Formats: sequence, C-alpha cells, structure tokens
Amino acid sequence: MSDTIESALHENRHFPPPADFVANARLKPEEAEALYRKAEEDHEGFWCDLAREKITWHREFSVGLDDSQAPHYAWFTDGRMNVSYNCIDRHLDTRGDKPAIIFEGENGDTRTYTYRDLYHEVGKLANGLRASGVRKGDRVVIYMPMIAEAVIAMQACARIGAVHSVVFGGFSADALRDRIDNSGAEVMITADGGTRGGRVVSLKKTADKALDICSGTVRKVIVCKRAGNEVNMTEGRDVWWQDLVADQPVDCEPEWVESEHPLFLLYTSGSTGKPKGIQHASAGYLLNTIITNEWVFDLHDEDIFWCTADVGWITGHSYVAYGPLAVGATQVVYEGVPTVPDGGRWWQMCQAHGVTVFYTAPTAIRALMKLGDEIPAEYDLSKLRLLGTVGEPINPEAWMWYYRTIGGERCPIVDTWWQTETGAHMIAPLPSVTTLTPGSCTRPLPGIVADVVNEEGESLGPDQGGFLVIKKPWPSMLRTVWQDDHRYKSTYWPKFDGKYYLAGDSARRDPDGNFWIMGRIDDVLNVSGHRLGTMEIESALVAHEAVAEAAVVGRPHDVKGEAIVAFVILKGERPTGAAAEEMVKALREWVSEHIGPIAKPDDIRFADGLPKTRSGKIMRRLLRSIAKGEEITSDTSTLENEAVVAQLQGKA
Ligand code: WTA
Repeated sequence: MSDTIESALHENRHFPPPADFVANARLKPEEAEALYRKAEEDHEGFWCDLAREKITWHREFSVGLDDSQAPHYAWFTDGRMNVSYNCIDRHLDTRGDKPAIIFEGENGDTRTYTYRDLYHEVGKLANGLRASGVRKGDRVVIYMPMIAEAVIAMQACARIGAVHSVVFGGFSADALRDRIDNSGAEVMITADGGTRGGRVVSLKKTADKALDICSGTVRKVIVCKRAGNEVNMTEGRDVWWQDLVADQPVDCEPEWVESEHPLFLLYTSGSTGKPKGIQHASAGYLLNTIITNEWVFDLHDEDIFWCTADVGWITGHSYVAYGPLAVGATQVVYEGVPTVPDGGRWWQMCQAHGVTVFYTAPTAIRALMKLGDEIPAEYDLSKLRLLGTVGEPINPEAWMWYYRTIGGERCPIVDTWWQTETGAHMIAPLPSVTTLTPGSCTRPLPGIVADVVNEEGESLGPDQGGFLVIKKPWPSMLRTVWQDDHRYKSTYWPKFDGKYYLAGDSARRDPDGNFWIMGRIDDVLNVSGHRLGTMEIESALVAHEAVAEAAVVGRPHDVKGEAIVAFVILKGERPTGAAAEEMVKALREWVSEHIGPIAKPDDIRFADGLPKTRSGKIMRRLLRSIAKGEEITSDTSTLENEAVVAQLQGKA
C-alpha cells in the first residue's frame, strides 16, 4: 500500500458535492453543521436525542451513557426495545407492500420480499427457533450462502433475543469449529449449499465436518434447502428449515430486550491468538447503523440500495441485514460472484434493478477495472446517484475509474472507514456536505471524536502519521470480546491511560483536516478487504506435519491490496524443483482447508531457517522487504543465520 500512500500524499483533486445532490439530500449542510455543533457541546445529549428520534422504544430510556465501568461503556441502559421490530414491524403500516429485499441468485433466479413478506418469514422462523427451545441469550451459529434467508435468520434471532454468530460461508470446517466452540452455540442454521463462481458450495457438508470435531454444544441444525445438492441429515439433530416453519404462525411477539442485550457476535482476526468474538449490543448498534444509512448513504424511500458485502462480514450486518431495513429501504441481495457469467454481472444487475446507491470494496473495483471500460459501457448505469467503498484504502486511480466509468462523473463517492469493532461508519463523507479527495475517507461523522495521536496520546499536526484513536465512546462500539474480557482491554485500550479507543490503524490528517488511513499497526493483513491475522495462517502452516516453522507477511498487490507471502521451514530437507512445487501446492490446499480459500498464501518460499536476531526474534521487517523483492541494503550481519536471506530471496 505504500505506493498508494505516496501518490495519495500528492493528491490534489477535489470534488465538492453536486448542487442537485445537495438540494435533494436528507441531511442539508446547515443540519449537518448543527449536528456537529450539538455533538461538541453535549456529546451524551446528542446521542440521546438521536436515540429517541430514530429508535422505536418499547420502554423509553432515562440513562444515556453509563461510563462507570470504563472502558466498558453502556448506552440507553434502562430502555427496552427489539431490533427486528425496528427493522420490520414499524414499517408495516406505511411500507408493508414495499420491497425490502430484491434477491437474485447467481443462476438468475429472483424473489422479492416486501416488508410484510419479511415479517411473515422472520416470524415463522423465530417461532420455529422458539419451538426448538432457543431462548433469549442463547447463541445461534449462522453458516449460510448469501441468500435472503441469511438475513431472515439473523432477524429471527434478533426477534427472540438469541445472539447470532454468522460465520462466512467461505470458511472451512476448522474455522467454523473454532467459532462454534468459542460461542457455545446450541443451534446452527445452514443450507444444503449455495452457488458461487458457477459451482455449488456444499455448506452442509462442511458444517457436518465441523460438528464432528467440535465440542458438541450444537443439538439442532436447521438446514435451508437452496442448491438442491445431496446432504446427509442426522436423525434427531437436523431439520429442514422449510419443514420447521411449515406449521408456524407468522406472528411472533418480539422479545423486548434491554438496550445492552447482545445482538450478535462476529469473529474477526487480531494480531495474536484465535479470532475474537466481537460482541455488539442492541440499541446502540442499531442507532449508528440507522444514522449512517441516512447520512452517509442518503437513503430515501425511492432508492434501490445495493451493498455487495456478504453477511459473513460486518459490512453485511450493518449495511444489509440491519441498517437498510431499519430505515425502510429497498435493497438488492445477490448470492454470487461479480464475474458470472461475465464481468458485467454487477452492472447488468444495477441496470436491471435500477440501483441508485451502490456500495462495494476497492478490491472489487480494481478487479472490475482491469476488465476494461467496455464492459460497464454496455449497461445503463444512469440511475446510480451515489457510490461507496469500504474495507481498505482506495487508491486514487481506482477511485477515479469508479467515479468516471461507473458514476458517470455525477455520483459522489463515500469512502467509509470503520471496523467490525465500531459497528458502523466512523470516518466518512457526508455526500451533501463534504468535498471529496480521492483516497481519503475525509472527516469523522458528527458525534465521532477521532484523532491521530503519538505514543503519548498527543494530537499530531498535519501530515504526521500516528495512531488512529477515537476519544469518546459511541453507541455502536463493541462491548467486549466474547469470553475474553482481558483481550478486550489489552487490544483496544492498552495505551493512553485506557481513555482512547485504539483502532489498530495508522493514519494521518492532511492540511484540510481529511483523514488518510495508512495501514494496520499490528500483524493483521487486509487481503481483498478481508482481515486475516498472520499468526492464524502461521498456525495453520505449522499444523502441517512437514512444517517446522513459518512466518507470514503481506506484500502490496494491485488487485487484492495485500497478497500473502509465507516463509516456510520444513522438518526435512529444503525442497527444490518439482518437489518444492508439490509442497507449495499441498500447503496452499492445507491452509485453504484449515481456514478458507481467502487465506491461501500467494507465494510460499522455503529456506533452512528464518532470519532471526541473536535473541531469537523473527525479523519481520526484513521478511516484508524480501517479499516485496526489495534490495536488502540494511546490515544483516547481526542475524543469527545470515545465509537464509539469500535462500528466501530465491538466490541460493
Ligand atoms: C480497514 C470492515 C481504509 C482498516 C468495515 C480497518 C479501511 C479494517 C477502510 C477493518 C477505509 C476499513 N479506508 N481502510 N475506508 N475501511 N478499512 O473489521 O484497516 O473487516 O481497521 O471492517 O479495514 O476491517 P473489518
């Protein structure tokens, strides 16, 4: 990414909001100004006002922010509400017949769910879950393809106060097992299979494998019939979704939960150990997803919104499963990949469904950009009025392509910085207010007090890189790491007297006050917008019988953002030629089986040892240079084993 940062440093193109956009925006510039002012004067009051206005409460709250247990912050604590009620029921009078979800399968099948349909489907499944003994606070693992039923499953859990933990359908049985075991889930919702990239992915088969090796908390598996592939159903444990809901009533009284009741866990990678279960609360999370869909995506009743993220990631939680529904929007949900049957699929779908607001990741933009301008030019994209990106810094070239070729130089681009932990957008343009600069996520949203600081926690001046922190609590912040509160404190509050939230990114501000994200400060890779811990991949590699030691680093990649490079020391001889190729293949496959295809190393290199200091520390900086193919100019004579450098460079 450093090339990107370098070019971004000299970025001087500016795009003020188009006048007609401002005229029709939900949030007018003067309102935005008032919000910023209010937030600055009275942080807690600002959030309380919004919570009263945007959430339909079952019981009003009187406590705004409870910071008595800092760094655990609780919001609107004595209120009661239900997230699913807020996403569905409250629209029934005014939007009952309005499409909520326009689903399209990779094979082209479509189905539209109105808000009333959603109410019925969610109600039936929620009743089915209750009939299966699922109670408030119980964990439910969801391992699904990207189909409407995944959203329905999440909503059904929320409706009865069950805590869902969605596991991305691309994760392997081992990864699924870890997440089941850590969450202690008793019920799993999955599907026979889904279609991706032109083939059927047999989710149930992987789920069975995971259930075979996990500690046995799961007593019930609900299987949605989707792809029609053959599956094994275990008597007494497995039930078809379609059978479970067949006799269930559509009305399901929501569980009125307290604001802080956990809505979901979502596992994400950190620099050490296994993925951590990020725990989110109900009301606060909902509030930030609502306001960001209104302010950043400017969603109006007439809009057709499409966020391409899978529900396996936080983006698919906040901008598919919850936020767009909470504001009563119509959204597109797509099962498959952007390149089936060809690279025009997304643009064809934008045309067919009249998409007006489109949100995706820079890696996808770069991949589609490579296919050329002729493809999008074949489609009518004139309905688009706003574009968004998330997941990693967008390089200005990709930004300009997105702006010109997809947005027709008409659509503002909202580059949204946020994290699994933050629950919703934190630093992002207000498209009716903010002047855009390609590559910058611009300014913190009203109520979000973000800053760039040094080791001592002091604010840094323009163009000085430092730690990105958030200095005041916000409603959708994570509440803890599931089953590991110590890790919550040590990961997010280790510095600055535990007063500032440490995001784990480095950033700088330009002289205009715009934020530029520079990269992670920890050993987390960002591969195609997905977070992967280097240690997770290393652990998978050393679990292979032939491997003695492994070190994994990232290398800049023009489509994926970062590519994975693994340096591997085998127990036996260092392989060469065909033997090395065989081993590379086997290890790539191994990692894919242990974590998932997204974690497959792009490049594997063998040596007799890893470059270490005399005190035994692996020199990661050196490995990163080797991975990039840089000339090694630094003195390596302090290394314990200098000779391996040449081996890892492929020179010996
Ligand atoms: C990175 C995804 C630059 C960042 C919502 C962050 C970004 C991590 C941006 C969180 C952006 C996300 N510009 N970097 N607009 N958005 N990131 O938890 O490093 O999967 O810490 O959440 O992605 O990834 P996560």
